[in-house]
Amino acid sequence: MSFFQDINTDSLGHIAGLAALVGLTYLIITIVFPPINFPKNIPTIPFYVSFLGAYTSMDQLQIYEYYLKDKLDKYGAVKIYFASRWNILVTKPEYLQIILKNEALYAKSGNHKKIPYAVLSRYTGDNVISAHGEVWKLYRSVITNSIQFPDKSSTNQNAMKLVELINNSIGSDLNSKSLPVGDFLQKFSLQNICQSMLGIDFKLLDDPNQELHQRLKYVKSQIFKSFYMNFPIFDQLPIPSRIKAKEEVDKFREYFTQRVKDEQLKNFANKSSAGYKLYEALQAGLITEKQFTDNAVIILVAGHENPQLLFTSLLYVLAKHPKWQTKLREELINIDDDIDLENFINLNAFIFETLRMFPPLGQIINRETTKDALLGGKIHIPKGTYIGYNNFVTGRDSTHWEDSNEFKPERWIPNDNNISEMLKFYKTSKINCTMAAFHGGKRACLGEKFALFETRLFLKHIVSNFKISLDPTWIDQLTPAGPICPIMLRINFEKLESKKTQ
Ligand code: HEM
Repeated sequence: MSFFQDINTDSLGHIAGLAALVGLTYLIITIVFPPINFPKNIPTIPFYVSFLGAYTSMDQLQIYEYYLKDKLDKYGAVKIYFASRWNILVTKPEYLQIILKNEALYAKSGNHKKIPYAVLSRYTGDNVISAHGEVWKLYRSVITNSIQFPDKSSTNQNAMKLVELINNSIGSDLNSKSLPVGDFLQKFSLQNICQSMLGIDFKLLDDPNQELHQRLKYVKSQIFKSFYMNFPIFDQLPIPSRIKAKEEVDKFREYFTQRVKDEQLKNFANKSSAGYKLYEALQAGLITEKQFTDNAVIILVAGHENPQLLFTSLLYVLAKHPKWQTKLREELINIDDDIDLENFINLNAFIFETLRMFPPLGQIINRETTKDALLGGKIHIPKGTYIGYNNFVTGRDSTHWEDSNEFKPERWIPNDNNISEMLKFYKTSKINCTMAAFHGGKRACLGEKFALFETRLFLKHIVSNFKISLDPTWIDQLTPAGPICPIMLRINFEKLESKKTQ
């Protein structure tokens, strides 16, 4: 009896070992090699490139230059491993145009569909950015107007408060100081989006320990762990730290939902804000509780993170180009606060050039083919393939941008300094997808106008109050993966002569 038992235990052990080996081999093969039905006429980026940012000291610029540039310049599309699967990444503007125009074939399929089990997907859910078809139309019918025409009346005052915060951090007995900029910029962009679009004054620029800011920083620290960003598939396992991350996400969503709802019940609630419109739609039964939260959270997330990234990159290029600080200061310092800054030529050129070289959303892979496709008549893409674009690479494409790696705002300025011509060129660059920082077409960014509005005010107040330079001890590097901006930027702020005695 014990002899047979031994044999059975041994065989079971062998079978389990073999199954584990087969499973592991299969996993490795699916990570190392793209699926066999993927197009053969575009190159494959080695699978490990996607992990370099997390496990080496390389930043996104270095990874692009060493591993992506040549192949993408030549082919305009590659096979790339990202977020637990193989995808097609497109950077050639002509291909991108086709994809963005054809929503039915290259359908939006955000994280809630691609990696529904991931902690990240639990955070942002099924929202206006990631949804497709009728659900997307429903969300848009509720919030489009509020996002395109928000209440901008508090933004200038917020920019002044930001300057005050920086001045307070420099201190009254000093004229200059090196400061980390992350928290300042996050509070400024959060305050703007919450006030203008959700109708809530969180007083983020008044209270140093403001609750939303603290909670947001904490929940993000729980969600964004590089291993799980690369392998979200592991979020399915009962790993204690990920279970905790899910709980923290739920707590944050509950807190935030309650704050948005409470605000809409007040007598003076802004009835045209996106917060109010979502609440109205919830009361009318047009959207569910979950859809209410998913969309309120995405307005908060997309509405503050992307501008924050852009502000950071702007400070970086401003610090590196003192000549442009002077130009912008001369253009803006004596301009009244109520004057629309949309028509200032150097200001726009500086922002557009920063967007070209440092698009906040570098790589976005959230389209899925609904049937077999032949991209540009050349690249055969099977049904069910994830497709994405990379603004960082497209913005530096040397076939469309001369000296593409050089920061030259002048390239946006027409010879006759005609602002309408300049804005036309910006628009055409979006339509042609040579610069898709705000995307283009039907699914283009709804918040672009507001983002540019707050950005112009931000720059005006910075150059009118400070001379800035890079802290020499700061290591000049971009983020290693994900959104694009200089990492942990430290700026030396020097009060302008005229402001020193104030
Ligand atoms: C510098 C700032 C910003 C940048 C660079 C940016 C960029 C983008 C990009 C690239 C997309 C397309 C994403 C995709 O292809 O899946 C997008 C979509 C979107 N953005 Fe922005 N964004 C910015 C600011 C904002 C702000 C302030 C809001 C306000 C809430 C906002 C709301 C949206 C919405 C709602 C969509 C989805 C539109 C749709 O699909 O119907 N964005 N944004």
